[in-house]
Amino acid sequence: MHNYNIKFNTNPSMANITDKLVEKYVSLGENPETYLEGLLHAKPITYWDYVEVDSLLSLQKPRTNFKDESIFIMYHQVTELYLKMMLHELQQIVGNPTPSTKFLTTKLDRLIKYTSMLINSFDIMKVGMDYEDYNTFRKTLTPASGFQSAQFRFIELHCTSLANLISHRFKKGSSKNPDLRECFEHIYWKDAGTDPKTGQKTLTLQLFEDRYLRELTETAKTVMGHTLEDKLAQLPYVPDALRNRLRTFDQLYNIDWPMVHLNTAEHYLDKKGENKEATGGSEWKKYLHPKYQQRKFFPDLWTETEKKNWGINHKNKHYGSIEQTRIDAPTSR
Ligand code: HEM
Repeated sequence: MHNYNIKFNTNPSMANITDKLVEKYVSLGENPETYLEGLLHAKPITYWDYVEVDSLLSLQKPRTNFKDESIFIMYHQVTELYLKMMLHELQQIVGNPTPSTKFLTTKLDRLIKYTSMLINSFDIMKVGMDYEDYNTFRKTLTPASGFQSAQFRFIELHCTSLANLISHRFKKGSSKNPDLRECFEHIYWKDAGTDPKTGQKTLTLQLFEDRYLRELTETAKTVMGHTLEDKLAQLPYVPDALRNRLRTFDQLYNIDWPMVHLNTAEHYLDKKGENKEATGGSEWKKYLHPKYQQRKFFPDLWTETEKKNWGINHKNKHYGSIEQTRIDAPTSR
């Protein structure tokens, strides 16, 4: 038990705090006495209430009895939380009318850290799940797909101008300054949900658009001219330290994550060259490769050669792959 000095007459800082509390409630037009009395009866906050542990742990609702389906759900949920952290950083960038180089560098460091965590942990989707079980339970998930993760799309909208997200199939034909409608008409991710011959949308895409297209369009309107890419254009110059971080983030988000994701998709859907149909019904082998998508947040920071080789000859780094780690190596003790 600490021996705090709580006597107001001998501890001026206690008196100061009480004065400030009284001021706070008076300025709100409230009676301070009621609030201070309320404190007497308030229960102490606990870890489980603050973090909402019980709610969080009750959010896994598998549709089958396969044990690994819970892992599949939880890893997606962990990813969504990381994406939320990223969006949280990006919203602060977009909301800052004149972000300094220092501010942007700090935010970029965080974005890099979060994306690296996602890349380094993606192996859980391979070693954390049984091949046969996944290929059976995934059938109950059709037509749901990670493709329908809206946070991925919101992150893109905060990072770069809409024109950079136009499908490469339309880039040449689109007008010099395409408006919002034209950009959304030809946004790259529609390639995954549209039959190129008939133009017919998959159910996965239809449901996604019904749920999110309006919100996405509104967000695009709000952030137009204020994206991370726009903020860079406001700086007198982009110092090397920031430039390197922007390039790293662009590479991690638009090449390295897509590659670890694609490798996992290949593991389950194309292990024996079967090219199985994905739950979202896309031509996934083609679509998911960064060299097809050509998605870049900061195209001005890459040379023509680098852009041409986007996602080509990509060297798979270690990325904490458990397969490559000697888990049976004797410990030093
Ligand atoms: C066994 C693990 C996984 C497999 C086999 C897989 C497979 C696929 C496939 C085939 C697609 C293409 C769309 C379709 O036709 O469904 C896709 C898209 C996507 N998946 Fe996954 N996925 C896996 C795990 C994840 C995880 C953990 C996430 C994290 C949220 C995720 C997020 C996405 C996203 C964002 C897209 C759209 C990518 C883009 O538009 O560039 N996937 N996935």
